[in-house]
Amino acid sequence: MHNFTFYNPTKLMFGKDSVQRLQKEVAKYGRNVLVVYGGGSIKTNGVYEAVMAQLTNCNVIELAGVEPNPRVQTARQGAALCREHNIDLIVAVGGGSVIDCAKLIAAAAMVEQDAWDVVIGNVRVEKALPLGTVLTIAATGSEMNCNSVITNSDTQQKFGWSHPLVSPAFSILDPAYTVTVPLDQTVYGIVDIMSHIFEQYFHDATNTKVTDAMCEGVLRTVVETAPLLINDLTNVEYRETILLAGTVALNNILGMGSAGDWATHEIEHAVSAVYDIPHGGGLAILFPNWMHHNMLINPKRFAQLGVRVFNIDPTNKTVEQVATESIEALRAFWTSIGAPSRLADYDIDAEQLPQMVQHALVHGPFGRFARLDSEDVYEILEKSL
Ligand code: NZQ
Ligand code: ZN
Repeated sequence: MHNFTFYNPTKLMFGKDSVQRLQKEVAKYGRNVLVVYGGGSIKTNGVYEAVMAQLTNCNVIELAGVEPNPRVQTARQGAALCREHNIDLIVAVGGGSVIDCAKLIAAAAMVEQDAWDVVIGNVRVEKALPLGTVLTIAATGSEMNCNSVITNSDTQQKFGWSHPLVSPAFSILDPAYTVTVPLDQTVYGIVDIMSHIFEQYFHDATNTKVTDAMCEGVLRTVVETAPLLINDLTNVEYRETILLAGTVALNNILGMGSAGDWATHEIEHAVSAVYDIPHGGGLAILFPNWMHHNMLINPKRFAQLGVRVFNIDPTNKTVEQVATESIEALRAFWTSIGAPSRLADYDIDAEQLPQMVQHALVHGPFGRFARLDSEDVYEILEKSL
């Protein structure tokens, strides 16, 4: 393991009716609250009313319409609202997109420069407005980390940025709020959760037995629960399991003592910057191809994953055979729950492949388990067509 410091300041309030704790939390920060939400799902499933009932003592300003793959333009509006109304606290109600946008608003409201300068690191973030979240979909882990992924549709760029000051101060997770997530988004969330674990499982360290076991345990649980959930979308127990898996998958606990790879996420962000496809859909297509591309770097690692998570029988097989079977088992599993497997599923062909490669490589080669240059990225994308 590498030496590490673990610090996660988010107060997590998980379970049925936990929204009832919102009023007390908000009161710690002040009365002027910016409520940020997405395209309207919270208005049809009762979450909006439940949140607003907690904010009756506050001066509430609303920013609606945050896009999936949130735009910097929307964050700019949010930052302007914060300045205009002297906002004390931002409450993000929604999924990763809403929370990521709210994180950028929290930082951009405190600087004179443009919000995009925060994303690309042209501005030093020294303070941020406090942020609370009410999560409505299991996927990104944004509710308990300091990352934010923002799209600039003018420049066709989608970049992640992070800063400890934009970690949510508190997050409220009620599994019942996620039962209205439609089948396709449920599947994308499951793929994203598993992908976050893979990104950390394929790392640059040795002797990571504890985090290996934690990663494999969460993966096994997701693999067991996902098929049950997609056939019973309103089952709160299955939703609860997947919701907690999503938070644990990316609140940095699984990355203790190692540095993950994250190349597949870089490539997916380049694809969805150019084509605006759902993040989880892109990952389902790309990850098995990243795995095949890099399998020979450490076939044992892939074989271990297959044996421990997908119950592959290694008897009388070479480690490379088991590794290959493991990757195919992952592909088959994702296909079985309805995830896409080719870019063609989103009508993406080779036409903009060079642009995607260029986007992915904008900061040079990347990936810690396997360093990828433009040729590698081209090959992975080409195999994914
Ligand atoms: O906009 P609304 O109406 O809320 O509908 C959303 C949206 O259409 C809908 N939805 C959410 N909760 C619902 C619901 N529909 C019915 N009932 C509910 N309870 O689901 C759709 C997708 O929402 P979104 O927030 O976009 O999904 P997700 O949480 O998967 O977030 C994806 C974004 O997060 C970024 C991705 O790149 C993408 O931009 N990521 C953020 C990360 C982070 N901050 O740590 C890490 C991830 O790897 C990822 O890159
Ligand atoms: Zn992700």
